[in-house]
Amino acid sequence: MAKEHYSIAVDGPSGAGKSTLAKALARELNIIYVDTGAIYRTIGLEVFRRGLDPKNEAEVSAILPELSIRMEYEDDGLQHMFLNGEDVTADIRLPNISLYASDVSALPAVRAFLLEMQRELARRNCVIMDGRDIGTVVLPDAEVKIYLTASAEERAKRRFLELAARGAGKTYQEVLEEQRLRDDNDMHRAIAPLKPAEDSVIVDTTELDFEQSKQAVLSIIRERVGV
Ligand code: DC
Repeated sequence: MAKEHYSIAVDGPSGAGKSTLAKALARELNIIYVDTGAIYRTIGLEVFRRGLDPKNEAEVSAILPELSIRMEYEDDGLQHMFLNGEDVTADIRLPNISLYASDVSALPAVRAFLLEMQRELARRNCVIMDGRDIGTVVLPDAEVKIYLTASAEERAKRRFLELAARGAGKTYQEVLEEQRLRDDNDMHRAIAPLKPAEDSVIVDTTELDFEQSKQAVLSIIRERVGV
């Protein structure tokens, strides 16, 4: 019997392909894709715009009450992020915002501020939610937990090719170094560090192409929720 309400948590390091995969699976299963990294990026963007130090908890938490963060889903299924009414979907993808997002995400006040918003989305909808702590903290009772990973070199290569296609002039070495910094930040912070949930299935996509990764994850989902 297929479950009527279920959640799928997808965690893993940056560049593992979580968002592309989760987006495609959401379409296939007709459920909602929630990109939680985009929410941290939205706060990172505001901190950057105000010229604040993203590691300073007092400075960052002081602005949280002034922020209204909203997600909207367009007809194309894309998640748009609104910050105090402004569509910041494109701006949060600027390369310098990644580290800001990673830095603010290490602050307990920021994580507490966003926790309920993420849980509420999963209560109201069948979701596939990607991030770093979805299976461990946000949705500990998710029916399916995937930890998607790939070697650091392979992830940096994919990111480098993606940036090159967009015309961003970064070398492979720069991308690898930036990724190392972020991995280090995300895996070693005191609160909600990136790690596989005990009951997650680890999917290593180093040797898999997109279609193979998708089929691997889809078969885990079908087995767990019968969809
Ligand atoms: O997935 P992303 O690269 O867009 O995420 C940006 C940053 O946000 C990432 O470096 C870590 C942080 N993040 C987090 O701490 N917890 C999540 N659930 C999602 C993202």
